[in-house]
Amino acid sequence: MEVIIKPDPEAVSKEAAALFQRQLALKSTSVLGLATGSTPLGFYRELVRRHRDGHVDFAHATTFNLDEYVGLSGDHPMSYRAFMREHLFAQVNMRPDHVHLPDGQTEDIPVHCEDYEDEIRHAGGIDLQLLGIGSDGHIGFNEPSSSLSSRTRLKTLTPRTIADNARFFGSEADVPRHVITMGVGTIMEARQVIVLAMGAGKATAVAAMVEGAITASVPASILQMHPKCALIIDEAAATQLQRADYYRWVYDHKPHWQRP
Ligand code: F6R
Repeated sequence: MEVIIKPDPEAVSKEAAALFQRQLALKSTSVLGLATGSTPLGFYRELVRRHRDGHVDFAHATTFNLDEYVGLSGDHPMSYRAFMREHLFAQVNMRPDHVHLPDGQTEDIPVHCEDYEDEIRHAGGIDLQLLGIGSDGHIGFNEPSSSLSSRTRLKTLTPRTIADNARFFGSEADVPRHVITMGVGTIMEARQVIVLAMGAGKATAVAAMVEGAITASVPASILQMHPKCALIIDEAAATQLQRADYYRWVYDHKPHWQRP
């Protein structure tokens, strides 16, 4: 895993946007895996800016989001579909029929989840997957103890994730208890993965992900097995890494042809 430590959240967002820009420049028909939450907000702002400046073209891209709350319609302001519309899709030239999110109001969740997996496969698989990480080490909404080979399915949020996400809903009571999420196995099949983390609240999870044992207790730790995964974090999220100086040294000596 490549660990890139940037001075602040803005630099994290810019580095990630540069990687997405390069991906779309290399392959205009890229299949992008997208995340929501507070972590990628600056990243989406930067992507939109680069699109407006004529550097990023979504005309031929396809997207699949990681997850959606069960019970929320796509019009609900806290749904991830609404989040993506507001922060990316309404501001760039994405084709609506190329956008995919799980349907939080589907009547048959298992069948819908299988269909979602089929759609990813038919699109050719995910070229570049963006992830955030939960303070408990989750990716997507694969909470601790999730099978490391799981597929898209229903998950129950932990009380900790409900508490973390209450800031979006106003109160913990309003946070849905269930989500549909891509599985850990689904995420691991993406050809390239970029994980973003910012702030001291993520430092423990980041250290466990990078330097801890691979365990279902920290689902993000399975990314140690991914052949092409970059973790881009700010200084605050890096404070518990034992080998932070080594990661900085590697980045500083990165060959030019490997840089975005
Ligand atoms: C969101 C997602 C989650 C978040 C994680 C971090 O689509 O899949 O794994 O990335 O909960 O959330 P924030 O960024 O709000 O700290």
